[in-house]
Formats: sequence, C-alpha cells, structure tokens
Amino acid sequence: MMKKMLFIILLIPFIANATGEVGIAAKGGHPEYLFLDKVKQSEAKSTAYLISKAIGLGRLVIFAQMKKLTNPKLGDKGFTGEYFLEQWKTSLEPEMIDISPTQQGIIDKLFWAGKQSIDNNQDRINVKGVKWKHFLPAKWARETGLMFNSRTGIVTKQPSLNYRHPSNIPDVKERDILTEFAQSNAKARGEFAMMGKQKIYRYFDPIVLVPPCLACHGKPKGELDMLGFEKDGLNSGDVIGLISVSIAVEDQ
Ligand code: HEC
Repeated sequence: MMKKMLFIILLIPFIANATGEVGIAAKGGHPEYLFLDKVKQSEAKSTAYLISKAIGLGRLVIFAQMKKLTNPKLGDKGFTGEYFLEQWKTSLEPEMIDISPTQQGIIDKLFWAGKQSIDNNQDRINVKGVKWKHFLPAKWARETGLMFNSRTGIVTKQPSLNYRHPSNIPDVKERDILTEFAQSNAKARGEFAMMGKQKIYRYFDPIVLVPPCLACHGKPKGELDMLGFEKDGLNSGDVIGLISVSIAVEDQ
C-alpha cells in the first residue's frame, strides 16, 4: 500500500506537466503556430498554383544549364544565385500579373530561398574535373523547399513512389495520387484538408519525364545510374513525381 502511494506521489510532477499549458503538441499533426504565412481560402488555390509553377520553372532554368553544369572541363560556370534569380523571375513573369500583396510576399520569400540554394551550392557547381556533382533540379527544389518552409511554414515536396531522397517519401494522399496519375491522365489538382488543427490547402502537380531524365530514371529498372542510384524503369511521358504544396488557410 505504502509502495503504491509513493509511486503515485512520485508520478504527480509528470502528470501535472503533461496537462500543463506550455509546450503541448497538437494531437495528430503539427501545431498551428508552425504556419507563419496563411492565405485567404479564396486565394488558396491560386497561391498553391503559383508556388508550384515557380518551382517547376526554377527546375527548368537549371535543367536548361545541365550541359554546362556537368562539363568537367569548366571550373567557374558563372551560374550564380543572382544570374539564376534573374532568369527564374523572367520565366515566372506571365504568372505574376494579377497576384495579391499576400501572394507577392510569399513569392518573394520563395525567390529568396531559391537564390540562396544556388548560392549555397557554388563550391559544388564550380568544381573542375567532375562531370556529375550531384547538383540537379530536384536537389535545388528540395533545398529551396526547406528554406522556404522555415520562413513561411508552407510545405513543398517532390514525392515519388520510387523516391531517392527520404524527404520525398509520399504520404498516404500523395501515394494515392501518384498511383492514380501513373495509370490515367495526370492533371494538377488540389483540395482542402486538415493538418493537425490547421486547415490547409493541398495541391498536387505532376512532374513528367522527358528523354534526358531517362539516363537516371529510365530503363532497365534497378540498374545503377551514374550517381549510383537504382533506375526507376520509367519511360518518357511517365509521371515520376509531384510538386506537392501544402499551405495554411485563414479561418473564415
Ligand atoms: C544524373 C541523374 C539524374 C537525372 C538525369 C535526373 N534525375 Fe531526377 N533525381 C536524381 C537524384 C540523384 C535525385 C535525388 C536528388 C536529391 O534530392 O538530392 C532525383 C530526384 C528526383 C525527383 C524527386 C523524387 C526523389 O527521387 O527524391 C524527381 C521528381 C525527379 N528527380 C525528376 C526528374 C526529372 C523530371 C528529370 C528530367 C528533367 C530528372 N529527374 C533527371 C537523379 C537524376
């Protein structure tokens, strides 16, 4: 009896702590204070679209430079953050015409993160004597997404069923959409959902393979590519992944 009481007395501080006000995580997901930037419900879709489009275009700007970036004879490639940012902004201009001040603020943070990612990789990009330096559009998008997330709370990912990087593991929803897109006509779409206590808008935009991707993502499945990853066994035109955007919406 005494022993049992002592046990309960010893437990009291822990029980009190567990029910206290400070530091209690929301059940089933992220606490809402992780979301720094929120958009109106009416702007959720267009904002997610804009972010996804910007990431896709940033990937293309890098993709267009891959021949130069993988040339082992070149040292300094001149592919600086500033150079990249200028090209990236120009390619996104047509999408920026009618955006709201909130969207402008969010996209400015994405521009900042994307430039930062290129700046951070200068040593890697400018290495001489190495062809593949593991600098790729997907890596840029991943690193940009992390920095963008830290300033906005907006989550961007590139999930794939056969992911290489662990941060691209698809969640249940993304897995369903990837499976569906692999079988039928893939078209970007979005929906409202909950993340813990926070209402969010999720947007899923298919990433489609083109012939130059196949050196690493093509056939034969399982054979090692030049970076040592297993090839995916896919064809040109196949959906390899998604640009997945999750953005918090204001309560209305
Ligand atoms: C030289 C090999 C190579 C080529 C060519 C290549 N990729 Fe990748 N891809 C990778 C590697 C390595 C990663 C993991 C990058 C990271 O996150 O650091 C990756 C990641 C990805 C991802 C994210 C999912 C994952 O596996 O983590 C997508 C989507 C993707 N690539 C699409 C493409 C597309 C589309 C093309 C052509 C435009 C392409 N890749 C060309 C090697 C390649």
